[in-house]
Parts: sequence; C-alpha cells; structure tokens
Amino acid sequence: MSLIELRGVTKTYGGTTEKVTPLEDLDFAIDAGEFVALMGPSGSGKTTLLHLLAGIDQPTRGSVSIGGIDIAQLRARELARWRTRHVGYVFQSYNLIPVLTAWENVEVPLLLLPLSKADRAAKIALALAAVGLTDRAHHLPRQLSGGQQQRVAIARAIVADPTLLLADEPTGNLDRKVASATLELLQRLNREFGKTLVMVTHDPAAARYAGRIVELDKGRLVAAGGAHA
Ligand SMILES: Nc1ncnc2c1ncn2[C@@H]1O[C@H](COP(=O)(O)OP(=O)(O)O)[C@@H](O)[C@H]1O
Ligand SMILES: [Mg+2]
Repeated sequence: MSLIELRGVTKTYGGTTEKVTPLEDLDFAIDAGEFVALMGPSGSGKTTLLHLLAGIDQPTRGSVSIGGIDIAQLRARELARWRTRHVGYVFQSYNLIPVLTAWENVEVPLLLLPLSKADRAAKIALALAAVGLTDRAHHLPRQLSGGQQQRVAIARAIVADPTLLLADEPTGNLDRKVASATLELLQRLNREFGKTLVMVTHDPAAARYAGRIVELDKGRLVAAGGAHA
C-alpha cells in the first residue's frame, strides 16, 4: 500500500456564482520514501493539492488517505493532532516568527507534543545541526540571510520527525546558488533520513532534484512528459 492515496479528489472553491475547480477527480499515489516534484502553471492547483495533503483544507469530494487514515474524515481536533505528528510544511516566504530566535522557531511544533524540556532541546539541536545552523541558533530571523531563514524553516518542519514533508515553492525567494544548496538539503533529508517529500515548484531545475516529477494539467495529474501519473 502506498503512503499517500488520493481517490476521486475534487476541490471546488466558491459559492453559487463563480466556481473554481482546480482539482477534478484526481487519483494519485505516493510511496513512503519518495521525493515527488509537483509542477504546473500558476493557478493550476498546486498549493490546493498540498493543502489537502497537509489536512489544512478538505476535498469537496473524494478521499485523501495517508498512512491508512482518511484525513478528510477526521474531526477538526483530531486533524490538528494528526497534522502535528505527521506533517512538516515549508513555505516560499519561510513564515518564521520574527520575535523568536532560530532555536525558538524550531521549538514551536514541539510545544504541541508531550515532551520534556530536555527532550525538546535534544530534538531542536539535532534539527538545527541537520540543516547546518548550529552556530546561528540564537539569531533572530532578521539577523539571518534568506537561505539561512529557509533552513530554519526546514529545521522547524522536520523537528517533530513527521511522516511527510511538504514544501511549497521553497526556493522561490532564493537566488540560484542558495536555491541549489536548499534543494541539496531537501534531497539529503529524503535520501539519508528517508523523508517522504512533496515539493511544489515551477522551476524545472529544482524539479530535477526529485525522484519523480508530476504535472497538474486542467485539474488532473500527469507524469512529466505527458503520460498518466
Ligand atoms: N481559498 C480559495 N478560495 C477561492 N479560490 C481559491 C482559493 N485558493 C485557491 N483558489 C483558486 O484555485 C485555483 C488554484 O489555486 P492554487 O492552488 O493556489 O494554484 P497554484 O498553487 O498552482 O498557483 C486558482 O484559480 C485560485 O484562484
Ligand atoms: Mg501556489
């Protein structure tokens, strides 16, 4: 069984007048340990699909099954708990809390888990070391470069050891060289730590770091090159 299975997923936004259906009757599976790049033009539903995988949003129809759990069936509280345990999310604009240090930003997801202070500290130190930022732990976001801020955000996304790592245009705000280093880091998290990773990008150079490239096209997913995903 695949780690992620989408069956007949349709997502429609809007009320009675102007409806938008970025995803239509989508079937898609991702195995544990895969690194999938999700491509497609602006407005094709890439972020929508990532939100469904994260349990941030619910499909209008269909099922989103992750690790055997249909997350569309969970109640809000269960879903919040599930998300904390299973999903790490990386945003294009980092979304760090400006008044917290790198260390404190990475700590945030752990505050929702039943851990001692010492256990939290060990996990934070490990995550910051994994992204190469041990020596920047006590800096505020504004004292860090864009690439370093994104690495803090990646540390925050992996610190609770989630089942699934989701990244939405993670290198969209970074210059080419820093973007490459960030993509290499994501690839290493996939290869060495076995993290299942779904990354949205519209940059073909970024997508090449993934093991599989799929494209959203008129609400459906196709393998890069046009065959069925
Ligand atoms: N919360 C929302 N309410 C209404 N329409 C939305 C919402 N989110 C996204 N959309 C629309 O759904 C379509 C897909 O958006 P999105 O998933 O953000 O695309 P992408 O990430 O590929 O650029 C767009 O037409 C967008 O305007
Ligand atoms: Mg988007």
